[in-house]
Amino acid sequence: MGFFTKDIKSLNDLFMHGLQDLYYAENQITKALPGMIEKATDAQLRTGFEKHLAETEGQVHRLRQVFELLETEPKGDKCPAIEGILKEGRDLMSEIGDEDVMNVGLVAAAQAVEHYEITRYGALIAWATELGRTDVVPMFKANLAEEKATDQKLTQLAERRVNPKAEKTDKPSKPKSTVRRKTPKAAAPAKAKRPAKKARRRA
Ligand SMILES: [Fe+2]
Ligand SMILES: [Fe+2]
Repeated sequence: MGFFTKDIKSLNDLFMHGLQDLYYAENQITKALPGMIEKATDAQLRTGFEKHLAETEGQVHRLRQVFELLETEPKGDKCPAIEGILKEGRDLMSEIGDEDVMNVGLVAAAQAVEHYEITRYGALIAWATELGRTDVVPMFKANLAEEKATDQKLTQLAERRVNPKAEKTDKPSKPKSTVRRKTPKAAAPAKAKRPAKKARRRA
């Protein structure tokens, strides 16, 4: 896309841009997943990532089929959104020092990716349908179904295993002072403000 030219003039242009954008994103995800597999210490999370890497490679293949049906060369368009999501994930991983917390961070980073993909496939399905290119819709739908299933599995994994385990590793830090403090009183419920005298008289 040129900075000073408006390259997208029609819905078809927008659709092609979206397709190239997602093709770039899926390829970047394929490169990012091995690093996430390496960092995952929870067996189920690791297996889940491995499975999704294989699925993502299949998704790239389906997108190639879409390009073929559209009689264009498969081409990626640099997508700043996925670059940002993946970079944020990498930055976060480099900051985490505990392996149970790392698993929690990995789930969250992966879900950010899945949610991004879900929105993009949703848009491509709608645009392809609008443009009468229903022949390419099944490929998008197949990819979308895998992204949604992955997202749901990640939620279940986080709720049942990963988050509770990381929570147990949290040891409450000892108070620095040995002086015993009284338990603070529970905050009194706020009293309803009475209207000012003048206002009451006027009422
Ligand atoms: Fe994907
Ligand atoms: Fe995905």
